[in-house]
Amino acid sequence: MFDKLYRGEPTFEGGSKPTGIPWDVRQAQPRLMELEALGGISGEVLDIGCGLGDNAIFLASRGYSVTGLDGSAAAIEEARGRAAAAGVQVRFEVADATNLTGYDGRFDTVVDSALYHCLDDVGRQAYAAGLHRATRPGARWHLYCFSDGNINGVVVAAPMGAVPESNIRDTLTANGWRIDFLGPTSYLASAAGLGGGYGGGADSFPPQLAEQLPPEALEQMREVTARFEKIAELLDDDRVYLPFTVVHAHRVD
Ligand SMILES: C[S@@+](CC[C@H](N)C(=O)[O-])C[C@H]1O[C@@H](n2cnc3c(N)ncnc32)[C@H](O)[C@@H]1O
Repeated sequence: MFDKLYRGEPTFEGGSKPTGIPWDVRQAQPRLMELEALGGISGEVLDIGCGLGDNAIFLASRGYSVTGLDGSAAAIEEARGRAAAAGVQVRFEVADATNLTGYDGRFDTVVDSALYHCLDDVGRQAYAAGLHRATRPGARWHLYCFSDGNINGVVVAAPMGAVPESNIRDTLTANGWRIDFLGPTSYLASAAGLGGGYGGGADSFPPQLAEQLPPEALEQMREVTARFEKIAELLDDDRVYLPFTVVHAHRVD
């Protein structure tokens, strides 16, 4: 699905073409930039699920040695182009976060900007265990994912939905990570992409897909899409903040 979205193709059979990519804000995430300024990044950095690469490119521009991994070849190709345009070096490679072989003992800092909530429970376990192997003792993991918070009435809509705090705590602690902080934060997104990134919200879903979602999930998507349409002309460059959870954890050894 991600690869199709990055290539501008319908993500579901019978769906319409995406009008944007919800997380493509063409800059690093503001909360990540603050984290860097406050000293939260050190050593070899892994940006996992790096997407179009803007977070990795920002960190490289600040002098860090950065690897960006993503499952989508189309995203990695675009990220390489953006790094070249920015004049920075980042090792961008295609990789599956749930099967991180070949990276053992490499990283001191892991940045996960909106990947964790893309994985199912089995994937999350494999991912957390794989990150333990891919990092060095004392490594830190900064994780940003969908929360059940609310920013100006904007909530995270179905079908992905918020990640319960207990899910994060259980997954990380079971795989050798200790949580130092878990709390609310925000994530900059493109409203153009949110309204249409998956093909125009619930109403443009092909009927067979819409039927698979609970009616309340479809209703929630409609409400969120309607909110974005109402505030669209007030937004600065189509940008909105989404309610997220941030987790700062360190590797236990
Ligand atoms: C919501 S996007 C976030 C992208 C980027 N980190 C950002 O904040 O702009 C999630 C990214 O995770 C990638 N992804 C999803 N599942 C993955 C997996 N199993 N392995 C690697 N990347 C994955 C997708 O291709 C997508 O680029």
